[in-house]
Amino acid sequence: MNSNTSSSIYKDLDPAKLPSHVAIIMDGNGRWAKKRLFNRIKGHEKGSETVRTIVRACREIGISYLTLYAFSTENWQRPRSEVAALMTLLKKFLKSEQKEMLDNNIRLYAIGQIERLPEDVRQVLYKAMTLTKKNNGMLLVLALSYGGRAEIVRMVKEIAIKTKDGSIDPDSIAPEIISKHLYTSEIPDPDLLIRTSGEMRISNFLLWQIAYTEIYVTDTLWPDFGKNELVRILQDYQQRERRFGKVGN
Ligand code: FPP
Repeated sequence: MNSNTSSSIYKDLDPAKLPSHVAIIMDGNGRWAKKRLFNRIKGHEKGSETVRTIVRACREIGISYLTLYAFSTENWQRPRSEVAALMTLLKKFLKSEQKEMLDNNIRLYAIGQIERLPEDVRQVLYKAMTLTKKNNGMLLVLALSYGGRAEIVRMVKEIAIKTKDGSIDPDSIAPEIISKHLYTSEIPDPDLLIRTSGEMRISNFLLWQIAYTEIYVTDTLWPDFGKNELVRILQDYQQRERRFGKVGN
């Protein structure tokens, strides 16, 4: 934890019991906007501000990996104007946060079907990933055009090709081999998954990786989510006993 924040809202967190990897399903932008009679895009704009706040908070707290579900494979089916607005916001975020990521030793990484993103977004994304690749303070992972099932299909195809060409022996296939062929091969599984806006579902996010992840669902809509609630959720996490299918202490 940064020393300049030790007397702040983070003071009640136990640095020894922090989750290493926090994953977030950022939901509720549309409902936030609807409640205020705004159009949905306004909700995504406010949601982008929350992204900035939460990335900064996680870095200050000392989280090592933060994965944000920013755009799913299913989200391509939204109205074209909404998809375009999300892409514009993403591009804006990547440009405006470059300095923040460099100043705060944050490395950017992306998982998902990056090849489906518009060319201009991909360019800014690759630039930000390249510029930050030596940073090791926190890995910020954006799930973009990401779907857990598509990721599993991709992994199965890769392993099938390797068994066919003889580079993988089918008898050697084990969970570790599967993990190594996912987008997240270099990233530990999430310790904590937060979902905003109250829906009790996983929505095709990190299906393999969340086998033993602690889940926290809050009714707060993503644009209303903030540092204080993040800290309360982390405190709740610190009270939990993780057994990974074994018996407790
Ligand atoms: C869910 O709200 C949110 C998304 C589909 C995308 C998340 C995007 C952002 C937070 C903004 C841009 C991202 C970055 C990284 C700058 P919803 O539209 O499904 O809400 P609803 O369920 O209330 O309709």
